[in-house]
Amino acid sequence: MDIKRGGFASKLGIILATAGSAVGLGNVWRFPYMTGENGGAAFILLYIGCILLLGIPGMVSEFVIGRYAQSNAARAYHKMSGKRGLWQLVGHLGILTSTIILGFYAVVAGWCLQYLFASLAGQLNGDSSYVSEYFRNFSSNPWKPCLWAVAFILITHLVIVRGVQRGIERASKLLMPMLLVLLLVIVVASCSLPGAMAGIEFLFKPDFSKVSHSVLLDALGQAFFSLSLGTACLCTYASYFSRETNLLKSAGQIALLDTIIAILAGLMIFPAAFSVGVQPDSGPSLIFITLPNVFQQAFATMPMIGYVIGILFYALLVFAALTSTISMHEIGTAFFTEELHRPRKQSAWILTITCSLLAIGCSLSLGAVDGIKLFGKPLLDFCDFITAQIMLPLGAFLTSLFAGWFVNQQLLKQEFLTGIRHNNNVSTAIFHAYQFSVRFIVPLCILLIFLHQFGIL
Ligand code: TRP
Repeated sequence: MDIKRGGFASKLGIILATAGSAVGLGNVWRFPYMTGENGGAAFILLYIGCILLLGIPGMVSEFVIGRYAQSNAARAYHKMSGKRGLWQLVGHLGILTSTIILGFYAVVAGWCLQYLFASLAGQLNGDSSYVSEYFRNFSSNPWKPCLWAVAFILITHLVIVRGVQRGIERASKLLMPMLLVLLLVIVVASCSLPGAMAGIEFLFKPDFSKVSHSVLLDALGQAFFSLSLGTACLCTYASYFSRETNLLKSAGQIALLDTIIAILAGLMIFPAAFSVGVQPDSGPSLIFITLPNVFQQAFATMPMIGYVIGILFYALLVFAALTSTISMHEIGTAFFTEELHRPRKQSAWILTITCSLLAIGCSLSLGAVDGIKLFGKPLLDFCDFITAQIMLPLGAFLTSLFAGWFVNQQLLKQEFLTGIRHNNNVSTAIFHAYQFSVRFIVPLCILLIFLHQFGIL
């Protein structure tokens, strides 16, 4: 059964895969640029608040539904609702959301591939204005970024249809700790640059006068995006969990790891950005116009080491992005395979082709072709906005209402407690705290943030 439904192997493997889904460009690319646009430390505080208060209970809800139902996202909601109502629509929404995310995410993952090869070829050497110019020219080129994005989706496709997830799991046991260590090294290098202190202050000294009107929704969207929450992605992965998995503990561990990596990414980018004069609110290009400077300037006396660290870093980032794109692809593939009764290969192609077309549109919208815009934003920015800021919170909101109010609460409790070794008063009390949170705290907070954003509150 397991092998047929996706090929995840061991108990540890699937937890690693879930962590791999969470850790990706959301941490290393999106978190720094969102932090930069929202004035730094104050945003980070709100972000951590969202992870603790809304993210962890949200993850547990998806885990509970997924592991109980053991099926694709849509059917999982249907099964858990006792086959009443239209709850499978929440699963459908999640599948749509993750397909759109894969479309624009692949563009950024493609940039990482380009940077991997460019740094191998030594093309990223130059001062900071050269580095900015390099990014501008490359990202607005009509061909190259599209090809890289489609290549990235095809690599994801190959992993999905060849069932080599096991290999990826095994590799991530080694590569994830490596990414963590390398991040630490680059953080030290970045903090040693002249004028780096200003960047550290930006990250840790809250200045509430800098926060914008949209800061709350930005923090919420970033928290959900980074945890892979709100698209039933976690639900799909949890359908492969074993009954011995402690769901709350796993959610906590993954959220902690994910947050540590995001903060480290911030510590890697901002000291360097302040040092070389890159604006913190440079938007999606932020890491791409900052990092090449770090690899050159912080290692100016040992250029060979800077060269190797740069290459290793882009390679590990590509791997981290791949474990995330696999998870987005898997949601749709599992759905089409089981609901449309298509062979897995065909289902995977449906997704690959749809996402590739979207990725090409997103990539071209950045300058190569004028006018690929929706509501005045380039398609890529629009897809990012509509998914992270609207669809993910909506998915998590509905999931929370579902788990808290519509699912048989005895069933919820039983599934929550399964896997917790010492079943006693303490674990029951923890369940009640979780239940209170999904009934009231999560839906109310998301609702209030929406109302605030749209000017009603
Ligand atoms: N969390 C991933 C990251 O930080 C991105 C991701 C993977 C995702 N699967 C998802 C985001 C599902 C939302 C929904 O890079």
